[in-house]
Amino acid sequence: MNSPFHVAIIMDGNGRWGLKEYNDRNKGHFYGLQNIDKVVKDCIKLNIKFLTLYTFSTENWNRPKKEIDYLFFLFKFFYKKNFNKMFKNNIKIKFIGDLKNIPNDLKIIIHKIEKKTKNNNLITVIFAFNYGSKSELINAFKKISKNKKNNITEELITNNLYTKNIPDPNILIRTGGEKRLSNFLLWQLSYAELFFVGKNWPDFNFFDLKKIINSYSKIKRKFGTVDE
Ligand code: IPE
Ligand code: IPE
Ligand code: MG
Repeated sequence: MNSPFHVAIIMDGNGRWGLKEYNDRNKGHFYGLQNIDKVVKDCIKLNIKFLTLYTFSTENWNRPKKEIDYLFFLFKFFYKKNFNKMFKNNIKIKFIGDLKNIPNDLKIIIHKIEKKTKNNNLITVIFAFNYGSKSELINAFKKISKNKKNNITEELITNNLYTKNIPDPNILIRTGGEKRLSNFLLWQLSYAELFFVGKNWPDFNFFDLKKIINSYSKIKRKFGTVDE
């Protein structure tokens, strides 16, 4: 099987799932985070080498404070709980996003995880956290102009993104039924194959992923060329 190297996921539909199952959006966030653990294992089984998960967007700050507070409580709980397991399972963890402007206690946890798992190599799991593609690009252009670089190339821009040294995703999956990118990896997804799944994130499972991987393996990726 033509196994993909990098899968990116917009883990959407937690709130709706929580409302439907428990009449509580936050329950959806809780079970959504639990599902990450399973999906990482599924990716390892399928020989996926990079998994990027859209965890919190720069626009998600516009949600009610009560929901944001609960989300941050959960993130801390999740990373603390899973930290050693991820390390022992040879999983490398990275974070992309504006990590300067997140609460200090979470910042400390994030740096610790990244440092401790940096030599692991079974799979790299990248959490897009306080991430927005437009702010990533602005940040890259600011760095480029600060360094007085005039010869703007694709490589120069790529190397100034948070995703420097990470190959572009082969596949983007969005759960929850919406067909939009919501400011996620706009540059990096230019040639990704897009898959939109009706299921909400807490219900997304191995068979859904396997089905997508199978469909992907049948696609002829052309990158602008013509069939021979
Ligand atoms: C995605 O699920 C998780 C975050 C944005 C943190 P949502 O919370 O957006 O769930 P829906 O789309 O409202 O159902
Ligand atoms: C995208 O989902 C962000 C994450 C999954 C973290 P949203 O639910 O925030 O996106 P919109 O608001 O539907 O575009
Ligand atoms: Mg949503």
